[in-house]
Amino acid sequence: MVEAINEYLSKCPEEVQNHCQRTGMLMDALLKEIDQSHKMKGYRLDGCSPYYYHDLGKCIVPGGVLKKKQDLSPGEWKIMKRHTRFGSILFDQLRELTENSEEKDFCQIGGIVCRDHHERWDGGGYPSGLKGAAIPFLARVCAVADSWDAMVNNRCYRRRLSADDALSEIEKGIGTQFDPEIAAAFLRMKKCAIRRESIKQRSVEYIVR
Ligand SMILES: [Fe+2]
Ligand SMILES: [Fe+2]
Repeated sequence: MVEAINEYLSKCPEEVQNHCQRTGMLMDALLKEIDQSHKMKGYRLDGCSPYYYHDLGKCIVPGGVLKKKQDLSPGEWKIMKRHTRFGSILFDQLRELTENSEEKDFCQIGGIVCRDHHERWDGGGYPSGLKGAAIPFLARVCAVADSWDAMVNNRCYRRRLSADDALSEIEKGIGTQFDPEIAAAFLRMKKCAIRRESIKQRSVEYIVR
């Protein structure tokens, strides 16, 4: 099953594959921070969690749209937004193909995260305009990790933000774009990691000098 999903993912540009992987790792850490990672244990297959593939549907979006350096036209933007539905359709299809209940669960969760990770806490997201707790929990977790990773890495259409600027963007999105509790936990975790990193850096500089 994971092999079949990876085959779809391999059709995405490398930038998308790497983004999916980093976002998945970040979600692992965030779920641990909010003490929910134990709930995901039963849903892993071959060491992968179903939310490692949130942008899987981009394998169906034309490369010219995905890699465009200028602003997208309204039509291109419409197609880009469809990656959410494309991903959930791919997972639905794989779910129908298997008789194995663990694989079925994996595909169901993967499909939900694909479909709903661009929903916003205030109801202004897509594809369905779901609001607040009506957005599935893992999709709310993904929304924060996904936005962070998109901001702190270079994209074909823009330069990356500094960690400080990305932190304040997440802060601004509390209660509008993001679930307040999940975003607060993310900020706590990130600030702590950044502090640890700078202490490590300072001690390396001290030893080198
Ligand atoms: Fe996405
Ligand atoms: Fe994404």
